[in-house]
Amino acid sequence: MTTPDPDPIAPADAAALTSGASFWTTSEVAGAASFWLTDGPHGVRRQVGSPDHLGLAASEPATCFPPAVGLAQSWDPELAGEVGAALGREAQAQGVGVLLGPGVNIKRDPRGGRNFEYLSEDPVLTGTLAAAWVRGVQGEGVGTSLKHFAGNEAEHDRMRASSDVDERPLREVYLRAFQRVVEDAQPWTVMAAYNKVNGVYATQDPWLLTDVLRGEWGFTGAVVSDWGAVSDRVAATAAGLDLTMPGPDADGDGGLVTAVEEGRLDAAALQRAGRAVADLAAEVAAGRRPDATVEVDAHHELARRVAARCVVLLKNDGPVLPLTAGRSVAVIGEFAQQPRYQGGGSSHVNPTRVDVPLEELRARLGDVAPARGFTTDGSGDADALRTEAVEVARAADVAVVFVGLAAGQESEGFDREDIELPADQLRLVREVVAAQPRTVLVLSHGGVVRLAPVADLVPAIVDGGLLGQGGGAALADVLVGAVNPAGKLAETVPQRLQDVPAYLDFPGEFSRHRYSEGLHVGHRWYDARGIEVTFPFGHGLSYTTFDVAGLELASSDEGITATVTVTNTGSRAGREVVQCYVGVPGSAVQRPVRELKGFAGVTLEPGESREVRVLLRRADLAYWHPRAQRWVVEPAEYEISVGVSSRDLRATGTVALDGDDVRLPVTDETTLAELMADPEAAASIAPMLGAFGGEGAGEALGVDLVRMMGSIPLGRLRAFGAGARTADDA
Ligand code: BGC
Repeated sequence: MTTPDPDPIAPADAAALTSGASFWTTSEVAGAASFWLTDGPHGVRRQVGSPDHLGLAASEPATCFPPAVGLAQSWDPELAGEVGAALGREAQAQGVGVLLGPGVNIKRDPRGGRNFEYLSEDPVLTGTLAAAWVRGVQGEGVGTSLKHFAGNEAEHDRMRASSDVDERPLREVYLRAFQRVVEDAQPWTVMAAYNKVNGVYATQDPWLLTDVLRGEWGFTGAVVSDWGAVSDRVAATAAGLDLTMPGPDADGDGGLVTAVEEGRLDAAALQRAGRAVADLAAEVAAGRRPDATVEVDAHHELARRVAARCVVLLKNDGPVLPLTAGRSVAVIGEFAQQPRYQGGGSSHVNPTRVDVPLEELRARLGDVAPARGFTTDGSGDADALRTEAVEVARAADVAVVFVGLAAGQESEGFDREDIELPADQLRLVREVVAAQPRTVLVLSHGGVVRLAPVADLVPAIVDGGLLGQGGGAALADVLVGAVNPAGKLAETVPQRLQDVPAYLDFPGEFSRHRYSEGLHVGHRWYDARGIEVTFPFGHGLSYTTFDVAGLELASSDEGITATVTVTNTGSRAGREVVQCYVGVPGSAVQRPVRELKGFAGVTLEPGESREVRVLLRRADLAYWHPRAQRWVVEPAEYEISVGVSSRDLRATGTVALDGDDVRLPVTDETTLAELMADPEAAASIAPMLGAFGGEGAGEALGVDLVRMMGSIPLGRLRAFGAGARTADDA
């Protein structure tokens, strides 16, 4: 049975549907109800007063869950799904129909101003977590908006600049996360980014919004613009954009109708856009739960539990951690008293409450000795604050120093110029550790900070990233050992800014952002160049230890399955994340030495062993073939390395995979070498090569003639005498 086509929407109504009725709502037109869209990925930011998308005006209180930078460190899709479901419930309780997240742009460079809102440097990790998050939110009857599609990897000049990316990295790195979320979780909306991609505004790009998103990936929802991202509504509607935000924009609506009348816009495109918004309104209405309420305390508890799972133990010599009862503890640093737990801009949430690390440590350890150590606003006498902190540290058995980046140092809207911790904080750390060797650093930051200046000085480092409103309790739980840390870095910590992949090309200038590092983003880059890093992608310690052994590999139509046995060899229950990295030695195309293609977490009691199975999806093993314009799985031996970080690989094996047959049509542009690669074709053109004197003819010239001629397109061979008479014939 086929569904009858719905009645066409009157052009004026269709146009009115395609722009907001207000900053945060859609229009009530032609029977479609108006609904709210609000930010944003880690909490509901429903503004009550004057609207803005800069996070300046007040919003209703809501639970501030760990921002993406923290959440990604869980490497746990189930947890991301739980957070999504909680956000869905909060959105329902506040009458919000679409929550504007998740942000799945890739952390191309550590200076990216919005990295705190993005998940990872890796598309498989990003896509897996984001898909689970989307399913969580949408399972509660609330829509999501997968953003910022695409190429919005920098904040600098974001409303004009073009992200210039070659097709392979665009497909294999930057679009891959979007593709996975669309295919696995069907977000109700996708948000088109501010920037251009390869010279075309994302909001006006038919290739991106129609050919790829709808045609190739099967997206069936509505494409929404980022707020203020549309410069030409006719071009945007023609390209595949449905809803222009914010509104109202009566002139633009009228312009669409006129454009249809004048034949500058296909009437079907306007119908498609109006219908997409009307369908979205219907979906929101069907999902609506008017009686929904939020259990504020339970959600705070969840925010704490999730935050604790996101904490990464980077280093623990001694071990200094966990802190043991009966020892006196100095708690130093402004962030222990005024925690930094989220980023600035449109995602800024008005939290229901905030856990303060100092208070949480006091609650667990009894008396602790506090010292501010520094201020982030420059107030106070810096020397006196530092001297006091050093004395407090000296008098205690252990010092815990909370350092990091202040809110003003990183936010939406601009990129950072360096990745340094503030100089006064570094000096404080150096002086504290000189007085108290048992010093633990606790880090709060949205973007990666360079740790080389302190990593060798202190015996222990705990990395929180940004942890949301429960971060204070979470950090305290990890420090005292009530929670065994299990987080893993979702982004490499480089030794120097000069080592990062886009060092010379970030953010770009004159409105061009050239992605010159190509495929080699994040761990792919450091491994290809053999660059030492301070802490590698995927790294994170535990208070217990794990053994990973017995790798078995099997291939099937679905991809490659890696099976290993993980054993908890220590004395505490804990969680390990098995990470599978794939390389294709001898590949016919450029490939990263090794790239993450799958992972799985396992929680084990002391002494317990379990088999962990990870499917490396066939689609993720494919590369994009720009000539064939399709994904290709290479027939090859795949090298699978299984480890607990990208640089702590515990087992490696190879497995053969049947690949795809790519036969390109032979044209005048086909080169001789391409033709010769096909045995049948090689046999059939052998006589033609006779025109050049046959095999061995190059010896006189000291060259392998066929090889030398390999790059000549067939259409040009004639110019070199193919088919012509040879000198001997004359
Ligand atoms: C941001 C989006 C956000 C929107 C609405 C824009 O400035 O880029 O991520 O959802 O504002 O606040």
